[in-house]
Amino acid sequence: MAILDKHTILEKNITLLSIFAFLVVTIGGIVQIAPLFWLENTIEDVEGMRPYTPLELAGRDIYIREGCYVCHSQMVRPMRDEVERYGHYSLAAESQYDHPFQWGSKRTGPDLARLGGRYSDEWHVDHLRDPQSVVPESVMPKYGFLENRLIDGEHIEDLLRTHALVGVPYDEDMNGEPSMDRIENARADFLAQADPDSDYDGLLERYGENVNVRNFDGQPGISEADALIAYLQMLGTLVDFSTFTPDESR
Ligand code: HEC
Repeated sequence: MAILDKHTILEKNITLLSIFAFLVVTIGGIVQIAPLFWLENTIEDVEGMRPYTPLELAGRDIYIREGCYVCHSQMVRPMRDEVERYGHYSLAAESQYDHPFQWGSKRTGPDLARLGGRYSDEWHVDHLRDPQSVVPESVMPKYGFLENRLIDGEHIEDLLRTHALVGVPYDEDMNGEPSMDRIENARADFLAQADPDSDYDGLLERYGENVNVRNFDGQPGISEADALIAYLQMLGTLVDFSTFTPDESR
């Protein structure tokens, strides 16, 4: 009874109540937020994850510019219907290098998180040019103009530097050792990935053997379509789910 009597004092004094409410919210907030500052990393390391290559990163910027995220999500939720339709549910690590992430909240079209390798480059060229030519009932707009817009990676080095500033390891090599190779070779790697006749050994050394090196849009010169398709073809392909086992210790 006594404690309830004391509570009446609080309930009858608005200033005192405000002070105590503020204290409770502050303590609760600190308990929730503070540990995040001391945890080394809240994302489990997953084998196979690497930063985007310069060409893929440029393609990702085009994806954002064109608002593809307005109709497409990039997150397979861990529910049976989603996993059966799209493949393994998305891992936090798979979007760890995304600034900003592309999870999305609207699915006018299908989820694209596991799109890489599902269709040929030619299919993507046809589909971007005229979605209704391959999927007659599609309501997706045409993006054929991307093929005609040539890009030369003029600012690609700056783009990598900017992503390095927010924590993407472009200032490290494949083994996590400090190295400026990825940034210094950004433009060369950008050009090499879209040209299978080029010397692309350096690109594979810096980003791994599985990088797709192709003339993605099948036309001379590097177009925005090349960059976008390079990006679409690697989505969700980095982690090998035939060998992946979640870290149960967390
Ligand atoms: C107005 C909504 C809308 C926008 C904007 C849009 N899409 Fe789509 N997209 C769709 C719909 C609907 C489908 C399903 C029919 C089809 O395949 O065309 C689709 C299908 C796709 C597919 C095939 C996916 C699969 O698994 O079959 C890809 C790839 C794709 N879109 C890429 C893009 C890209 C890249 C952009 C931005 C340049 C984009 N979309 C913008 C609506 C949209």
